[in-house]
Amino acid sequence: SMSEKDGYPHYMAKEIHEQGAVLRSTLKGRLLEGSVDLGDGVNWTPDFLGSLRRIHLVACGTSYYACLVAERVLERWTTLDVKVDIASEYRYRDVRIGADTLAVFVSQSGETADTLAAQRKVRAMGGRCLGITNVRGSTLAREVHDLLLLKAGPEIGVAATKTFMGQLGALYLLALKLGWDRGDLNPAEAERLASILLKLPYEVERVLERESEVKKAAETFFGFDNFLFLGRGFSYPIAMEGALKLKEISYVHAEAYAAGEMKHGPIALLEPNVPVMVVIPKDGLYEKTLSNVQEARARRSPVVAVASDGDDLICQMADTVIRIPRCDECFSPFLSVIPLQMFAYHVALLRGREIDQPRNLAKSVTVE
Ligand code: G6P
Repeated sequence: SMSEKDGYPHYMAKEIHEQGAVLRSTLKGRLLEGSVDLGDGVNWTPDFLGSLRRIHLVACGTSYYACLVAERVLERWTTLDVKVDIASEYRYRDVRIGADTLAVFVSQSGETADTLAAQRKVRAMGGRCLGITNVRGSTLAREVHDLLLLKAGPEIGVAATKTFMGQLGALYLLALKLGWDRGDLNPAEAERLASILLKLPYEVERVLERESEVKKAAETFFGFDNFLFLGRGFSYPIAMEGALKLKEISYVHAEAYAAGEMKHGPIALLEPNVPVMVVIPKDGLYEKTLSNVQEARARRSPVVAVASDGDDLICQMADTVIRIPRCDECFSPFLSVIPLQMFAYHVALLRGREIDQPRNLAKSVTVE
Protein backbone atom coordinates (compact mmCIF):
# COMPACT_ATOMS: atom_id res chain seq x y z
CA SER A 1 0.00 0.00 0.00
CA MET A 2 0.98 3.64 -0.40
CA SER A 3 1.16 4.15 3.36
CA GLU A 4 3.84 1.49 3.77
CA LYS A 5 5.72 3.26 1.05
CA ASP A 6 5.32 6.69 2.66
CA GLY A 7 3.67 8.05 -0.46
CA TYR A 8 6.36 6.78 -2.82
CA PRO A 9 5.20 4.63 -5.75
CA HIS A 10 7.83 1.95 -5.03
CA TYR A 11 9.81 0.70 -2.08
CA MET A 12 12.97 1.39 -4.01
CA ALA A 13 12.14 5.11 -4.25
CA LYS A 14 11.29 5.21 -0.55
CA GLU A 15 14.47 3.39 0.38
CA ILE A 16 16.66 5.63 -1.77
CA HIS A 17 15.21 8.63 0.02
CA GLU A 18 15.79 7.10 3.46
CA GLN A 19 19.53 7.05 2.95
CA GLY A 20 20.35 10.19 4.91
CA ALA A 21 18.47 8.80 7.90
CA VAL A 22 20.03 5.36 7.45
CA LEU A 23 23.54 6.74 7.47
CA ARG A 24 22.73 8.85 10.52
CA SER A 25 21.41 5.86 12.46
CA THR A 26 24.33 3.64 11.41
CA LEU A 27 26.79 6.24 12.74
CA LYS A 28 24.72 7.13 15.81
CA GLY A 29 26.51 6.69 19.12
CA ARG A 30 29.51 5.12 17.42
CA LEU A 31 31.71 8.17 16.82
CA LEU A 32 33.05 9.32 20.15
CA GLU A 33 35.60 11.91 21.16
CA GLY A 34 38.92 10.24 20.37
CA SER A 35 37.58 6.84 19.32
CA VAL A 36 35.07 4.71 17.48
CA ASP A 37 32.74 2.46 19.47
CA LEU A 38 31.45 -0.45 17.40
CA GLY A 39 29.20 -1.54 20.27
CA ASP A 40 28.78 -4.64 22.42
CA GLY A 41 28.85 -6.98 19.46
CA VAL A 42 32.51 -6.34 18.79
CA ASN A 43 35.02 -7.63 21.33
CA TRP A 44 38.59 -7.04 20.26
CA THR A 45 41.50 -6.71 22.66
CA PRO A 46 44.25 -4.15 22.05
CA ASP A 47 46.62 -7.12 21.61
CA PHE A 48 44.44 -8.56 18.87
CA LEU A 49 44.21 -5.22 17.05
CA GLY A 50 47.95 -4.70 17.34
CA SER A 51 48.76 -8.16 15.98
CA LEU A 52 46.47 -7.87 12.94
CA ARG A 53 48.23 -7.94 9.59
CA ARG A 54 45.53 -8.94 7.15
CA ILE A 55 41.92 -8.10 6.56
CA HIS A 56 39.69 -9.98 4.15
CA LEU A 57 36.35 -8.60 3.00
CA VAL A 58 33.92 -11.11 1.56
CA ALA A 59 30.41 -10.61 0.15
CA CYS A 60 28.09 -10.93 -2.87
CA GLY A 61 26.32 -8.47 -5.14
CA THR A 62 25.93 -4.93 -3.90
CA SER A 63 27.53 -5.87 -0.58
CA TYR A 64 30.65 -6.87 -2.52
CA TYR A 65 30.83 -3.40 -4.06
CA ALA A 66 30.63 -1.88 -0.57
CA CYS A 67 33.65 -4.06 0.26
CA LEU A 68 35.57 -2.75 -2.75
CA VAL A 69 35.01 0.81 -1.52
CA ALA A 70 36.13 -0.30 1.94
CA GLU A 71 39.29 -1.83 0.48
CA ARG A 72 40.35 1.59 -0.72
CA VAL A 73 39.61 3.33 2.56
CA LEU A 74 41.29 0.60 4.63
CA GLU A 75 44.39 0.94 2.50
CA ARG A 76 44.38 4.68 3.07
CA TRP A 77 43.67 4.72 6.80
CA THR A 78 45.43 1.56 8.01
CA THR A 79 48.63 -0.36 7.29
CA LEU A 80 46.80 -3.69 6.89
CA ASP A 81 47.02 -5.91 3.83
CA VAL A 82 43.54 -5.88 2.38
CA LYS A 83 41.97 -8.57 0.22
CA VAL A 84 38.44 -8.45 -1.16
CA ASP A 85 36.58 -11.27 -2.85
CA ILE A 86 33.21 -12.50 -3.95
CA ALA A 87 32.02 -15.16 -1.50
CA SER A 88 31.42 -17.80 -4.19
CA GLU A 89 35.08 -17.48 -5.23
CA TYR A 90 36.64 -16.99 -1.83
CA ARG A 91 35.08 -20.12 -0.39
CA TYR A 92 36.93 -22.29 -2.91
CA ARG A 93 40.25 -20.46 -2.96
CA ASP A 94 43.41 -21.41 -1.12
CA VAL A 95 43.57 -18.26 0.95
CA ARG A 96 46.08 -17.78 3.77
CA ILE A 97 44.34 -17.21 7.07
CA GLY A 98 45.80 -17.10 10.55
CA ALA A 99 45.53 -15.51 13.96
CA ASP A 100 46.67 -12.26 12.29
CA THR A 101 43.64 -12.24 9.96
CA LEU A 102 40.34 -10.48 10.42
CA ALA A 103 37.70 -11.62 7.95
CA VAL A 104 34.71 -9.36 7.42
CA PHE A 105 31.51 -10.78 5.94
CA VAL A 106 29.09 -8.20 4.62
CA SER A 107 25.54 -9.32 3.93
CA GLN A 108 22.38 -7.24 4.08
CA SER A 109 20.23 -10.30 4.78
CA GLY A 110 22.79 -12.34 6.68
CA GLU A 111 21.44 -15.39 4.83
CA THR A 112 23.38 -15.51 1.54
CA ALA A 113 24.57 -19.13 1.21
CA ASP A 114 28.00 -18.40 -0.28
CA THR A 115 28.78 -15.74 2.32
CA LEU A 116 27.78 -18.08 5.15
CA ALA A 117 29.95 -20.86 3.71
CA ALA A 118 32.92 -18.51 3.39
CA GLN A 119 32.50 -17.50 7.04
CA ARG A 120 32.48 -21.13 8.17
CA LYS A 121 35.66 -21.77 6.21
CA VAL A 122 37.53 -18.88 7.84
CA ARG A 123 36.33 -19.91 11.27
CA ALA A 124 37.54 -23.47 10.72
CA MET A 125 40.96 -22.08 9.72
CA GLY A 126 41.29 -20.01 12.87
CA GLY A 127 40.55 -16.52 11.54
CA ARG A 128 38.50 -13.99 13.45
CA CYS A 129 35.13 -13.27 11.81
CA LEU A 130 33.20 -10.00 11.87
CA GLY A 131 29.70 -9.93 10.39
CA ILE A 132 28.13 -6.76 9.05
CA THR A 133 24.41 -7.22 8.45
CA ASN A 134 21.07 -5.48 8.66
CA VAL A 135 19.27 -8.44 10.24
CA ARG A 136 19.90 -9.01 13.92
CA GLY A 137 18.58 -12.58 14.10
CA SER A 138 20.14 -13.78 10.85
CA THR A 139 22.35 -16.85 10.48
CA LEU A 140 25.41 -14.68 9.84
CA ALA A 141 24.70 -12.62 12.96
CA ARG A 142 24.47 -15.80 15.05
CA GLU A 143 27.60 -17.48 13.68
CA VAL A 144 30.27 -14.74 13.65
CA HIS A 145 32.64 -13.88 16.51
CA ASP A 146 31.84 -10.19 16.23
CA LEU A 147 28.80 -8.39 14.90
CA LEU A 148 28.14 -4.91 13.58
CA LEU A 149 24.51 -4.08 12.75
CA LEU A 150 23.51 -1.54 10.13
CA LYS A 151 20.24 -0.23 11.61
CA ALA A 152 18.92 0.57 8.14
CA GLY A 153 15.42 -0.79 8.85
CA PRO A 154 13.94 -3.53 6.66
CA GLU A 155 14.75 -3.21 2.96
CA ILE A 156 11.91 -4.46 0.75
CA GLY A 157 13.06 -3.56 -2.76
CA VAL A 158 15.05 -6.47 -4.19
CA ALA A 159 17.75 -4.13 -5.50
CA ALA A 160 19.75 -3.00 -2.48
CA THR A 161 20.02 0.76 -1.97
CA LYS A 162 19.79 1.99 1.61
CA THR A 163 21.61 -1.06 2.97
CA PHE A 164 24.54 -0.19 0.69
CA MET A 165 24.60 3.24 2.35
CA GLY A 166 24.49 1.60 5.79
CA GLN A 167 27.26 -0.81 4.79
CA LEU A 168 29.48 2.04 3.66
CA GLY A 169 28.85 3.78 6.99
CA ALA A 170 29.68 0.63 8.96
CA LEU A 171 32.79 -0.13 6.91
CA TYR A 172 34.12 3.43 7.26
CA LEU A 173 33.57 3.19 11.02
CA LEU A 174 35.54 -0.05 10.97
CA ALA A 175 38.39 1.48 8.94
CA LEU A 176 38.51 4.52 11.20
CA LYS A 177 38.51 2.36 14.33
CA LEU A 178 41.34 0.18 13.03
CA GLY A 179 43.38 3.18 11.90
CA TRP A 180 42.82 4.97 15.20
CA ASP A 181 43.27 2.11 17.68
CA ARG A 182 46.29 0.62 15.92
CA GLY A 183 47.96 4.01 15.64
CA ASP A 184 48.05 3.84 11.84
CA LEU A 185 46.33 7.25 11.65
CA ASN A 186 47.58 10.23 13.53
CA PRO A 187 44.97 11.31 16.09
CA ALA A 188 44.38 14.76 14.60
CA GLU A 189 43.73 13.22 11.19
CA ALA A 190 41.43 10.61 12.75
CA GLU A 191 39.46 13.40 14.46
CA ARG A 192 39.19 15.26 11.18
CA LEU A 193 37.88 12.15 9.38
CA ALA A 194 35.40 11.47 12.18
CA SER A 195 33.99 14.97 11.90
CA ILE A 196 33.58 14.60 8.12
CA LEU A 197 31.80 11.30 8.64
CA LEU A 198 29.43 12.87 11.18
CA LYS A 199 28.36 15.57 8.73
CA LEU A 200 27.95 13.16 5.82
CA PRO A 201 24.23 12.41 6.37
CA TYR A 202 23.50 16.09 5.64
CA GLU A 203 25.48 15.88 2.41
CA VAL A 204 23.56 12.72 1.47
CA GLU A 205 20.32 14.63 2.02
CA ARG A 206 21.52 17.41 -0.28
CA VAL A 207 22.03 14.86 -3.05
CA LEU A 208 18.58 13.37 -2.46
CA GLU A 209 17.08 16.79 -3.17
CA ARG A 210 18.53 16.74 -6.67
CA GLU A 211 16.47 13.95 -8.16
CA SER A 212 14.98 16.08 -10.94
CA GLU A 213 18.41 16.42 -12.62
CA VAL A 214 18.79 12.64 -12.66
CA LYS A 215 15.25 12.14 -13.91
CA LYS A 216 16.00 14.43 -16.83
CA ALA A 217 19.08 12.39 -17.69
CA ALA A 218 17.03 9.19 -17.54
CA GLU A 219 14.46 10.72 -19.92
CA THR A 220 17.24 11.44 -22.39
CA PHE A 221 18.94 8.06 -22.15
CA PHE A 222 16.33 5.42 -21.27
CA GLY A 223 16.11 4.15 -24.85
CA PHE A 224 19.72 3.03 -25.11
CA ASP A 225 20.42 -0.70 -24.78
CA ASN A 226 24.09 -0.67 -23.78
CA PHE A 227 25.94 1.49 -21.29
CA LEU A 228 29.56 1.68 -20.24
CA PHE A 229 30.09 2.85 -16.65
CA LEU A 230 33.51 4.26 -15.78
CA GLY A 231 35.30 5.33 -12.63
CA ARG A 232 38.71 5.25 -10.98
CA GLY A 233 39.79 4.80 -7.39
CA PHE A 234 36.88 5.29 -5.01
CA SER A 235 34.59 5.79 -7.99
CA TYR A 236 35.34 2.47 -9.66
CA PRO A 237 33.23 0.36 -7.26
CA ILE A 238 30.50 2.99 -7.57
CA ALA A 239 30.53 2.61 -11.35
CA MET A 240 30.15 -1.15 -10.78
CA GLU A 241 27.25 -0.62 -8.41
CA GLY A 242 25.58 1.80 -10.83
CA ALA A 243 25.88 -0.70 -13.68
CA LEU A 244 24.50 -3.47 -11.45
CA LYS A 245 21.47 -1.37 -10.48
CA LEU A 246 20.71 -0.66 -14.13
CA LYS A 247 20.95 -4.35 -15.07
CA GLU A 248 18.91 -5.50 -12.10
CA ILE A 249 15.87 -3.31 -12.41
CA SER A 250 15.75 -2.02 -15.99
CA TYR A 251 17.22 -5.11 -17.72
CA VAL A 252 19.51 -2.82 -19.67
CA HIS A 253 22.98 -4.07 -20.36
CA ALA A 254 25.57 -2.06 -18.51
CA GLU A 255 29.20 -2.87 -18.04
CA ALA A 256 31.49 -1.18 -15.57
CA TYR A 257 35.17 -0.69 -16.23
CA ALA A 258 38.01 0.96 -14.41
CA ALA A 259 38.40 4.09 -16.53
CA GLY A 260 42.10 3.47 -17.11
CA GLU A 261 41.36 -0.01 -18.42
CA MET A 262 38.93 1.17 -21.10
CA LYS A 263 41.70 1.26 -23.70
CA HIS A 264 42.23 -2.48 -23.25
CA GLY A 265 38.93 -3.53 -24.74
CA PRO A 266 35.69 -1.66 -24.18
CA ILE A 267 36.87 1.32 -26.21
CA ALA A 268 36.17 -0.90 -29.25
CA LEU A 269 32.47 -0.80 -28.36
CA LEU A 270 32.18 2.96 -28.25
CA GLU A 271 29.91 4.68 -30.79
CA PRO A 272 26.91 7.03 -30.65
CA ASN A 273 24.68 4.16 -29.53
CA VAL A 274 26.71 3.43 -26.42
CA PRO A 275 26.48 6.08 -23.72
CA VAL A 276 29.24 6.37 -21.15
CA MET A 277 28.25 7.06 -17.56
CA VAL A 278 31.33 8.39 -15.81
CA VAL A 279 31.73 8.90 -12.07
CA ILE A 280 34.19 11.77 -11.86
CA PRO A 281 34.22 13.69 -8.57
CA LYS A 282 36.93 16.29 -8.08
CA ASP A 283 39.63 14.12 -6.51
CA GLY A 284 43.25 13.15 -7.07
CA LEU A 285 42.35 11.06 -10.11
CA TYR A 286 40.08 13.65 -11.73
CA GLU A 287 42.44 14.58 -14.59
CA LYS A 288 43.12 10.93 -15.36
CA THR A 289 39.42 10.14 -15.66
CA LEU A 290 38.86 13.30 -17.67
CA SER A 291 41.28 12.05 -20.31
CA ASN A 292 39.19 8.88 -20.59
CA VAL A 293 36.09 11.02 -21.05
CA GLN A 294 37.83 12.76 -23.95
CA GLU A 295 38.59 9.38 -25.49
CA ALA A 296 34.92 8.43 -25.27
CA ARG A 297 33.86 11.74 -26.80
CA ALA A 298 36.25 11.24 -29.68
CA ARG A 299 34.31 8.01 -30.47
CA ARG A 300 31.07 10.06 -30.35
CA SER A 301 29.68 8.22 -27.35
CA PRO A 302 27.21 10.36 -25.41
CA VAL A 303 28.69 11.11 -21.98
CA VAL A 304 26.77 11.48 -18.73
CA ALA A 305 28.99 12.62 -15.86
CA VAL A 306 28.42 12.47 -12.13
CA ALA A 307 30.65 15.39 -11.15
CA SER A 308 31.33 17.80 -8.31
CA ASP A 309 29.68 21.17 -7.81
CA GLY A 310 31.90 23.90 -9.18
CA ASP A 311 33.61 21.71 -11.78
CA ASP A 312 33.08 23.81 -14.92
CA LEU A 313 35.48 21.92 -17.13
CA ILE A 314 33.29 18.83 -17.18
CA CYS A 315 30.47 20.78 -18.89
CA GLN A 316 32.62 21.05 -22.02
CA MET A 317 33.27 17.31 -22.05
CA ALA A 318 29.96 15.73 -21.09
CA ASP A 319 26.53 15.91 -22.74
CA THR A 320 24.79 15.71 -19.38
CA VAL A 321 26.21 16.57 -15.96
CA ILE A 322 24.69 15.38 -12.70
CA ARG A 323 26.05 17.25 -9.70
CA ILE A 324 27.11 16.10 -6.25
CA PRO A 325 28.51 18.28 -3.47
CA ARG A 326 32.29 18.59 -3.20
CA CYS A 327 33.79 16.43 -0.48
CA ASP A 328 37.05 15.00 0.80
CA GLU A 329 37.93 12.35 -1.75
CA CYS A 330 37.57 9.28 0.45
CA PHE A 331 33.91 10.09 1.03
CA SER A 332 32.61 10.61 -2.49
CA PRO A 333 31.09 7.08 -2.76
CA PHE A 334 28.39 8.02 -0.22
CA LEU A 335 27.27 10.81 -2.54
CA SER A 336 28.01 9.53 -6.05
CA VAL A 337 26.09 6.28 -5.66
CA ILE A 338 22.79 8.10 -5.15
CA PRO A 339 22.36 9.57 -8.65
CA LEU A 340 23.23 6.16 -10.10
CA GLN A 341 20.53 4.48 -8.00
CA MET A 342 18.07 7.15 -9.12
CA PHE A 343 19.14 6.82 -12.75
CA ALA A 344 18.46 3.07 -12.71
CA TYR A 345 15.13 3.69 -11.00
CA HIS A 346 13.95 6.26 -13.56
CA VAL A 347 15.17 4.25 -16.55
CA ALA A 348 13.29 1.22 -15.19
CA LEU A 349 10.18 3.33 -14.65
CA LEU A 350 10.32 4.72 -18.19
CA ARG A 351 10.76 1.20 -19.54
CA GLY A 352 7.76 -0.03 -17.56
CA ARG A 353 9.67 -2.48 -15.39
CA GLU A 354 8.63 -4.09 -12.11
CA ILE A 355 11.21 -2.20 -10.02
CA ASP A 356 10.64 -3.71 -6.56
CA GLN A 357 10.45 -7.31 -7.81
CA PRO A 358 12.69 -7.67 -10.86
CA ARG A 359 12.41 -10.90 -12.81
CA ASN A 360 14.74 -13.79 -11.92
CA LEU A 361 16.18 -12.04 -8.85
CA ALA A 362 15.67 -12.79 -5.18
CA LYS A 363 16.15 -10.57 -2.17
CA SER A 364 18.40 -13.13 -0.60
CA VAL A 365 19.98 -16.12 -2.26
CA THR A 366 19.98 -18.94 0.26
CA VAL A 367 21.17 -21.65 -2.13
CA GLU A 368 24.60 -21.94 -3.67
C1 G6P B 1 20.89 -10.74 -4.03
C2 G6P B 1 20.18 -9.40 -4.00
C3 G6P B 1 21.20 -8.27 -4.05
C4 G6P B 1 22.23 -8.42 -2.95
C5 G6P B 1 22.88 -9.81 -2.98
C6 G6P B 1 23.71 -10.06 -1.73
O1 G6P B 1 21.48 -10.92 -5.29
O2 G6P B 1 19.27 -9.30 -5.07
O3 G6P B 1 20.54 -7.01 -3.92
O4 G6P B 1 23.20 -7.43 -3.07
O5 G6P B 1 21.89 -10.83 -3.02
O6 G6P B 1 22.82 -10.11 -0.63
P1 G6P B 1 23.25 -9.95 0.85
O7 G6P B 1 21.97 -10.11 1.65
O8 G6P B 1 24.24 -11.02 1.17
O9 G6P B 1 23.84 -8.59 1.01
